[in-house]
Amino acid sequence: MTEQRTRTLAPEVEIPYLGFGTYLIADGEAADAVSEAIRAGYRHIDTAEVYQNEAGVGSGIRRALASEGLTRRDLFVTTKLWPGNAAWGQTPKTTETTITSLHESLERMGLDYVDLYLIHAPFDRAQRLAQWRGLVELQKQKRARAIGVSNFSQAHIEELKAAGLPLPAANQIELHPWSQKPQLVEYLAKNGIVPIAYSSLVPLSTWRSAPGHDSAKTVEMKAESSRADSPFKALAAKYGVTEAQVLLRWGIQKGYPVLPKSTNPERVRKNADLFSFTIDAGDMAKIAEMDRGDGVAWSVGDPTKAA
Ligand SMILES: NC(=O)c1ccc[n+]([C@@H]2O[C@H](COP(=O)([O-])OP(=O)(O)OC[C@H]3O[C@@H](n4cnc5c(N)ncnc54)[C@H](OP(=O)(O)O)[C@@H]3O)[C@@H](O)[C@H]2O)c1
Repeated sequence: MTEQRTRTLAPEVEIPYLGFGTYLIADGEAADAVSEAIRAGYRHIDTAEVYQNEAGVGSGIRRALASEGLTRRDLFVTTKLWPGNAAWGQTPKTTETTITSLHESLERMGLDYVDLYLIHAPFDRAQRLAQWRGLVELQKQKRARAIGVSNFSQAHIEELKAAGLPLPAANQIELHPWSQKPQLVEYLAKNGIVPIAYSSLVPLSTWRSAPGHDSAKTVEMKAESSRADSPFKALAAKYGVTEAQVLLRWGIQKGYPVLPKSTNPERVRKNADLFSFTIDAGDMAKIAEMDRGDGVAWSVGDPTKAA
């Protein structure tokens, strides 16, 4: 039996397990990167207003649709609302400016709708509910087939529930063997919310190695990942794949759509080869023991509190 390549996100909305991440891909490079990824078999593209590459991403999508003979419905496209953070001197978005934001994102991308629209982070206590109401309206307007959140804790999602609002279809969070968030993942499962994994490749020494891309917290981790006795090197050798494939396959076996980003064509191709091997139950159990708690890609505060 062939393995399922998508997961149900909302009624009549399937999300492909394999997605292509575009954070840190410049607008001018995004069209080539995205069209090449689609040519390599990716059918799910993840961008965001704050990545400032929606125009390039959209042009890559349109180019690939034409060259590959695909239709818009063959692709799954996510973008994210930048909610604004008063603590950083930004004006938090209201319901109205949230609605305008997606319309502007769609215009930049040259698309009529996205498959998934997310609130990028739960920055503003006063406006979080207003922003979520904006997403609910955008789904009614059919500008977003499904709506969700990102970097939300259980407490943030409980706020939506307490206000009697529909629950998000997804929560996009940092998930990899070193940041497994078992309590949050269990809560999401109980509430029918799909976890989408970002920064799956944090345990690699090559993760965001370009100057200025790294996070200070990962310097020591990288030294550790480079060691010859790294468990991911051993697993890669055992299954005859790359360490990146092991990390991404772990996510898929946990039921998480994954979003590897690369601008290296060979890596883009290899990162998409995730259905030709299976990590056995014994190795999945060993990886379950590797959790170290919080992630490192970025921190939006204490994940247990709705700050
Ligand atoms: N919602 C959020 O707050 C949030 C936060 C972070 C990320 N995201 C989304 O998730 C996507 C993925 O996360 P990410 O960009 O943090 O990191 P990632 O996909 O986990 O890792 C990307 C890094 O790993 C390198 N890499 C990729 N494939 C590799 C391979 N096969 N072997 C060795 N190195 C490899 C890339 O370098 P090269 O490009 O040089 O190959 C890049 O430096 C983002 O692009 C974005 O779409 C969302």
